[in-house]
Amino acid sequence: MRHESKLDTIMTIKEAIFVRHTVRKYKDVAIDADIVRRLNERIDYINKEHDLNIKLVLNNGNGIWTFMKIFFAKNVKNYLVLAGKNREGIDEELGYYGAELMLFAQTLGLNSWWVGGTYNKSVAASTDGSVTTGVIVLGYGLTNGEQHKSKQMAEVCSYKGDMPKWFKDGIESILLAPTAMNKQGFFLEGDGRKVTLTCKNGQYTGTDKGIVKYHFEVAAGKENFEWA
Ligand SMILES: Cc1cc2nc3c(=O)[nH]c(=O)nc-3n(C[C@H](O)[C@H](O)[C@H](O)COP(=O)(O)O)c2cc1C
Repeated sequence: MRHESKLDTIMTIKEAIFVRHTVRKYKDVAIDADIVRRLNERIDYINKEHDLNIKLVLNNGNGIWTFMKIFFAKNVKNYLVLAGKNREGIDEELGYYGAELMLFAQTLGLNSWWVGGTYNKSVAASTDGSVTTGVIVLGYGLTNGEQHKSKQMAEVCSYKGDMPKWFKDGIESILLAPTAMNKQGFFLEGDGRKVTLTCKNGQYTGTDKGIVKYHFEVAAGKENFEWA
């Protein structure tokens, strides 16, 4: 069965932040060939520019644990493998570019599920010298998911003086971002144009940090601030 083509980007990345939620159950429909082409173009670009080995695996049901497939998921057949050379900061880099690809996929009409723990390490293992930090399942969801429970703005940030709109927009977006076990273990401090991000979430700190950075930059506007 062919899914109705959604080749035209149907929303911006910023808009995608608001409608993206984890989706674990998918339709038994292959991803449209034009969408696959666009995803692969973006993956190739990111890999070349940032020396990463992210790849898109299609029509392969072995990406996640059988336990998850039986009890929580349906038709999980396509996923991005988040891989890159083992180096300092690789978790954060893959979190950042994984977030970019996850939201890009959403603009193309796909749903997603970030899996940092319950994926099959063997099928995800990529090239020599590479580490894999997780997979992002992609497909046409049976639903669009639901908004996660969230902390309040005051719990995750502070700003010296009057909080500017760009900072507020950034915080609003990171409260919508996926984090491992929905911990939202981040804190942002703003002082003029300087923004400091700290993140506590154990094993997934680097990944969560990258995801949060990408969301904040999109919503706050890179031109308005600098990471401290
Ligand atoms: C780094 C990371 C690792 C994750 N690992 C898993 C996982 O192993 N299994 C799972 O079912 N969900 C996993 N998730 C999905 C989160 O539970 C989900 O993003 C979170 O509950 C927030 O919900 P939302 O994505 O709908 O906003 C992971 C998410 C992130 C960001």
